[in-house]
Amino acid sequence: MSLFLPLALCTLAACCGARSPPHPVLGPPPLFPLGCNSSDVLDIANFIVQDINRDQKDGYVLSLNRVSDAREHPQEAGLGSLFYFTLDVLETGCPVLSRKSWKNCGVRHLHESVYGQCKAIFYINKARRIFFLPAYNCTLRPVSQSKITTTCPDCPSSSPHDLSNPKFLETATESLARYNDKSPSKQYSLVKITKTSKQWVFGPAYFVEYLIQESCPKSQASSCALQPPNSVPVGICHGSLTERHSEKSVSVTCDFFESEAPTPRGENPTVNPRPVNLFKAEEPQQTTHQPKAVPKGTVQYLPDLDNKAEDSQGTDPVEAFPVQLDLTTDPQGEPLDVSFLFLDPMEGKLVVLPFPSKEQRSAECPGPAQMDNPLILPP
Ligand SMILES: *[C@@H]1O[C@H](CO)[C@@H](O)[C@H](O)[C@H]1NC(C)=O
Ligand SMILES: *[C@@H]1O[C@H](CO)[C@@H](O)[C@H](O)[C@H]1NC(C)=O
Repeated sequence: MSLFLPLALCTLAACCGARSPPHPVLGPPPLFPLGCNSSDVLDIANFIVQDINRDQKDGYVLSLNRVSDAREHPQEAGLGSLFYFTLDVLETGCPVLSRKSWKNCGVRHLHESVYGQCKAIFYINKARRIFFLPAYNCTLRPVSQSKITTTCPDCPSSSPHDLSNPKFLETATESLARYNDKSPSKQYSLVKITKTSKQWVFGPAYFVEYLIQESCPKSQASSCALQPPNSVPVGICHGSLTERHSEKSVSVTCDFFESEAPTPRGENPTVNPRPVNLFKAEEPQQTTHQPKAVPKGTVQYLPDLDNKAEDSQGTDPVEAFPVQLDLTTDPQGEPLDVSFLFLDPMEGKLVVLPFPSKEQRSAECPGPAQMDNPLILPP
């Protein structure tokens, strides 16, 4: 037994050369804090955000604002590491259906920001070129409207998804009708409204974003009703409706998604860029994503923190953005089955631990934020 421990520590030290050697502790398996601004950590964070975005069916692409916490749990020899990341994210203006990379999507203006936090467990086995997101969960909220109003009283008030006001549906249908009028052949119908806001400028102004699908062309309106074209969203429109006295003015712009060309995963570097540093010594390779390898997680949207902040001074940070991500509650960990990622029978077992609390994170965390306004940074 006395011989085993130094040997095990050597193995750990050898597989994770970048870190200082672990302290010889028994008890819970070691989970090493990583600096939140290191290029390897940022590469992994980028990869996680891409995988989360790729897993979404609706909503908007999330972008990385900063890494809030990063830990590595080296596994037994040859099995790589599991990483536990906490990421502060911002909603962009790109619908996930556009399949754009978050780096090509602008974040929203401060007054219409939606921000939050994701926790993710990520598995990397460089030797086998496995990069896999087994689990994630995110919680997002719109920026506090009361705080926006004090700094920018004239900004549109963003009620990100307020469908109770029929004016928003009217804005969508009237602006789409305007678009269809000008469209020579193709016609579009409303799939759903994805964002709403309003503003007062000499009268009420309503703004909506909505997904559209193709509908019957003008020429064959009656014959194609029986067999409508593909009902997948093909684009997103921004519509507005302004009322001044009894005059209405409507405006609309629409952007179409690039058709999803069935390119193999990982071939197009803008769609699926590799974390460069991690692959420095290797030729470009596809991520080993087997069909069964789908991550499990959700992005949950909560209302803004306004009401909450009033009930209790000193809002509990854990409560502000509750993100639960526990594949186990056993402090010793539990086996995580990833054998489907291996082409040949997998030797040994991955051990997954309870998600670490942020108390013991590295002193270099959180890292620098892209947008460092405190209104859009989770506590
Ligand atoms: C993710 O969050 C949901 C609630 O939003 C929760 O039911 C689920 O258990 C969480 N997943 C994990 C792995 O903890
Ligand atoms: C983060 O890293 C970049 C590049 O290495 C460096 O320029 C920047 O100063 C670092 N920021 C902080 C807050 O450490």
